Amino acid sequence: MPTVPHQFSDAPADPVHVAVIMDGNGRWAKGKGLPRTAGHKAGAEAVRRTVKAAVSLGVPYLTLFGFSSENWNRPVGEIGDLLGLLRLYLRKEIGELDREGVRLRIIGERVRFDEDIQRLISDAEERTRDNTRLNLTIALSYGGRQEILRAARALAEQALRGEITPEDIDETRFQNALFTADLPEPDLLIRTSGEQRISNFLLWQVAYAEFVFTDVLWPDFGHQDLAEALGDFRSRDRRFGGVTSP
Ligand code: IPE
Ligand code: IPE
Ligand code: MG
Repeated sequence: MPTVPHQFSDAPADPVHVAVIMDGNGRWAKGKGLPRTAGHKAGAEAVRRTVKAAVSLGVPYLTLFGFSSENWNRPVGEIGDLLGLLRLYLRKEIGELDREGVRLRIIGERVRFDEDIQRLISDAEERTRDNTRLNLTIALSYGGRQEILRAARALAEQALRGEITPEDIDETRFQNALFTADLPEPDLLIRTSGEQRISNFLLWQVAYAEFVFTDVLWPDFGHQDLAEALGDFRSRDRRFGGVTSP
């Protein structure tokens, strides 16, 4: 994880890395008397809009929570609909993402997906790997605790093999064992739909992120909402445990 210098000055800074918990698809659909799947479809449209908004607002890193480890507990029918939409997104959107200079990465336990989806994921990552305009990461079958456990196990195995000693395990080495090894820490975390909880997203990484909660349901989210969240972020005084400079 490259270190981004902590900003102690009062000058409003733009976030380098924005993370979003995209919540409220089901309630959006319910409010319109539609099945939940219609909400997920509209949610996929909001992903498209938000990626474009991030590019135009100059956000370098955008990470979206698309499907949590715990979401596997939803009814099979809903999971099937979500996986169908994921296939569609990976097939249909990749050309446009590539043209826009977006690098796509997926974090999470991808082995839990069907092989055709795993192939679509690696093809998409491969095709966009040299793009630099926006680093888009989508968390799928992702859980923060599961990610931390996985890193702990990998480090324990390295220690067993005698490659490292327990004392070698510091923050940098631990970060490098996470799915997000190549990403800076999120500066801003947005959650839509009025819920104010983390739901197992990026637990290690959000240690010093600023949180913005909005009542907007994910399918209604767009450029204006992202711009407002960035404005809110600029008004925050980030201290990182220190004191504000005079
Ligand atoms: C977010 O919307 C999408 C996923 C978690 C896959 P929800 O499906 O959680 O919608 P609500 O929270 O029930 O409204
Ligand atoms: C979090 O939303 C996961 C995603 C947005 C993908 P949930 O809807 O699953 O979270 P809870 O159940 O309300 O905490
Ligand atoms: Mg939800």
